[in-house]
Amino acid sequence: MLRSVKKFLSVSGKSMKRSAIREILKHLQKPGMISFAGGLPAPETFPVEDLKEIVLEVLDKNGPDGLQYGTTEGDTHLRKVLVERHKKQGLNINIENLIITTGSQQALDLIARILIDPGDYVMCGLPSYLGGLNAFSVYGAKLKGITLDENGMKPDELEETIIHLKELGKKIKFIYVIPDFQNPAGITLPESRRKKIIEIADKYDILILEDSPYREVRFEGEAQRMMCELDNTGRVITLCTFSKIFAPGFRVGWVIGHPEILDKIVMAKQTADLCTSPFVQKIIAKYIEKGLLDKNLKKTIALYSERRNLMISCFRKYMPESVKWTEPQGGLFLFVTLPRHIDADIIFKKSIERNVAFVSGSTFFCNDSGRNTMRLNFSFSNPVEIEEGVKRLSEVIREELTGK
Ligand SMILES: Cc1ncc(COP(=O)(O)O)c(C=O)c1O
Repeated sequence: MLRSVKKFLSVSGKSMKRSAIREILKHLQKPGMISFAGGLPAPETFPVEDLKEIVLEVLDKNGPDGLQYGTTEGDTHLRKVLVERHKKQGLNINIENLIITTGSQQALDLIARILIDPGDYVMCGLPSYLGGLNAFSVYGAKLKGITLDENGMKPDELEETIIHLKELGKKIKFIYVIPDFQNPAGITLPESRRKKIIEIADKYDILILEDSPYREVRFEGEAQRMMCELDNTGRVITLCTFSKIFAPGFRVGWVIGHPEILDKIVMAKQTADLCTSPFVQKIIAKYIEKGLLDKNLKKTIALYSERRNLMISCFRKYMPESVKWTEPQGGLFLFVTLPRHIDADIIFKKSIERNVAFVSGSTFFCNDSGRNTMRLNFSFSNPVEIEEGVKRLSEVIREELTGK
């Protein structure tokens, strides 16, 4: 009989914890639950009928070759299609600057693997995407949080913190930034601030990890150029994904960056999964070439924009005055700030009893702050659920405020 698994675990195996978000997702199986918790796209946006045709076309055209192993860098054709798409959007790259990964999450893991030694520092936003923070921590990174204001990561605080850490002899590997409709805060960095962060990274010779899954999910306002486009030093590594603009179940993303860095990521990927599904990559390439990605994305954006508007109008209608929230121009989330003395974990427990789920904001703060904040997803629930869910949540908050 195996008595203990623990004694076999590595140091990093022991340090791994279940993601708080995955734990929350367990509650979602409860019948009748309204979920604002996960970052799930709306299933109505998945183009099932178009894909049926394309799957057959790919099988007809490629035959068994479409089902073979592929190169670790990714399907050459898909890479070329993506390079052309970026060029049309103003980013001048070539195929050596782009590789395919199994979602952005894999890229976060591989990048952490090739860059981080235990004790190295990563600068990140307060708050920041938990999946990124966990990927860095597993490799022994120390996370240093930088406050966000309404324009994202504060450059002065970033620079002061870097100077302080350098004085202490610490090694800082990269700044983790989610510049567009940040997860969880919904904030977008204006170009001026993107440039400032690049300037700081250059001055102190640090890399930048630009994680950009929501960039193309913009409802209004002007697109800000990507940090990799603004940079001319080669120090920005950019992560993109089809998860929020097409279908997360495909598990396909891509990395743009310096060829030497990409080369190392490819070596790490060889021991992770050899290659991302070549069959799926061929399906995606065909879907883009037919002009269907951009067409479908327009519909997705219109749907999410309606749902964001509805969630905001329900917040205005039902929430007590002391509750504040962000009104993002895109993405999938509202970030809510409760009065200081209210603990979002308590609100969570009570709202789960009333069949409404969200994620407590503190999950995303690497310094355990943000206890009075919450992240709410607006893309997944239908209009009836959005109204009912916000109403129930507001009742729970009101009761907590009045001590009932
Ligand atoms: C900021 C951020 N990065 C990366 C990911 C992971 O995306 P993927 O589905 O491509 O692995 C997510 C998913 O929600 C995210 O919000």
